[in-house]
Amino acid sequence: MSTKIESAKMALPRLDVQRELERPEARADPIAAYARIRAMGPVIWSKSMLGDGFGITRYRDVMSVLRDPRALSDRRNVPGAGKGPLEHWWMPSTLKLLLNSMVMKDPPDHRRLRNLVQKAFTPSMVSALSTRVEAITKELLDRVSGKASIELIEDLALPLPLTVISEMLGVPADERVTFRRRLAKVLNPSAQTPVGFVVNYPHMIWLNRFFRRLVALRREQPGDDIVTALVSAEEGADRLTEDELVSMVFLLLFAGHETTVNLIGNGVHALLQHPEQLALLREKPELIDSAIEEMLRFTNPVGTVSPRFAREEMEVAGVTIPRGATMTLMLASANLDEEQFPNAHTMDITRDPNRHVAFGFGAHFCLGAPLARLEARVAIPALIQRFPRMRLAVPASQMRLRANLGLRGFDTVPLAV
Ligand code: HEM
Repeated sequence: MSTKIESAKMALPRLDVQRELERPEARADPIAAYARIRAMGPVIWSKSMLGDGFGITRYRDVMSVLRDPRALSDRRNVPGAGKGPLEHWWMPSTLKLLLNSMVMKDPPDHRRLRNLVQKAFTPSMVSALSTRVEAITKELLDRVSGKASIELIEDLALPLPLTVISEMLGVPADERVTFRRRLAKVLNPSAQTPVGFVVNYPHMIWLNRFFRRLVALRREQPGDDIVTALVSAEEGADRLTEDELVSMVFLLLFAGHETTVNLIGNGVHALLQHPEQLALLREKPELIDSAIEEMLRFTNPVGTVSPRFAREEMEVAGVTIPRGATMTLMLASANLDEEQFPNAHTMDITRDPNRHVAFGFGAHFCLGAPLARLEARVAIPALIQRFPRMRLAVPASQMRLRANLGLRGFDTVPLAV
């Protein structure tokens, strides 16, 4: 670490953010935990699984870094940024695939990779999927119809986005559940240690072979799916390397379901915790779009973006960030910032304006935002309609958020219906 970074670090309040957010009190009341973090200052020195660095806690500053072309996503483009956590030998090789994906790239590679898949995710392409999303939702809800209790994640919130993104990518139906089960193992923080590396080795091998098999399958048997389109692009002008191709498939499959499951799970949980908001949505179903934006802001399915690296010295909230430094942009904290959102700690499905940063901002703005919104706006009203008396089947105090790699959600949401 450069001496400039060392001395800047000494002057800042310090916090192991990962550990702080994992404490039982914080998991039970993350809103209060983020308020405490913001109260420490706009810039803190934060330890986290994604890399130690300057933690940016407030909305205004998070937005200014996301807009700033000096804040890069690929540490390899920043002299002095050193090795990142994903480069440690014990990191699951599946997660290392992210290093070749657009989310960790800067121009011109970022644009080239994003252009290759952008058209599959435009609002008009996505709205053409709505009939299919409705049909999958109906099928999933029919399966549990007549039961006294359901488990929201397993019965709806997970299989819906997993089926949709798998169909878009051409993943064979019989492999989806195995893929997800093995991915969950390598995403678990315990897998991201030397011991975890050994224990989870078979899952990593399986996953890496799975992505390569999928690419090979679509080379031999082209279909009407994104992997086939990418394989053809690989042979055309906009070339992809084999590693980029495999990384792209992983990124889309991973980001395409691991996030939306949390939007549906956290969103329904928040509605049940705020019965007056649920009643309002029942009375005025036309509020669904603004309700989903509020669920995104208030429950933050993604807690932080991937780290940013200072290409040159820059200033954030009066603090000098030296060249080569890592910045952790705390989206979840920014979205709960009272300076930006009046009554930020209150869920209000009529909130307007609601310029949340749950999907990021700028060049890396979430590619799948239209798809995530569509899935939530179909699934949540269908669930509410199907089970008008649904409630949490366990005491609210037993519900604990978990955060893996900045993804925030519940493992299970048991509902009495
Ligand atoms: C509620 C659900 C979702 C949330 C909260 C979410 C959040 C985000 C955020 C915060 C970023 C910015 C990352 C950064 O700046 O470093 C991002 C990027 C991305 N998201 Fe999503 N996402 C969601 C759903 C999806 C879906 C359904 C897909 C579909 C494939 C997707 C694909 C992507 C991709 C490919 C990127 C990288 C874009 C780039 O680097 O240019 N996301 N997402």
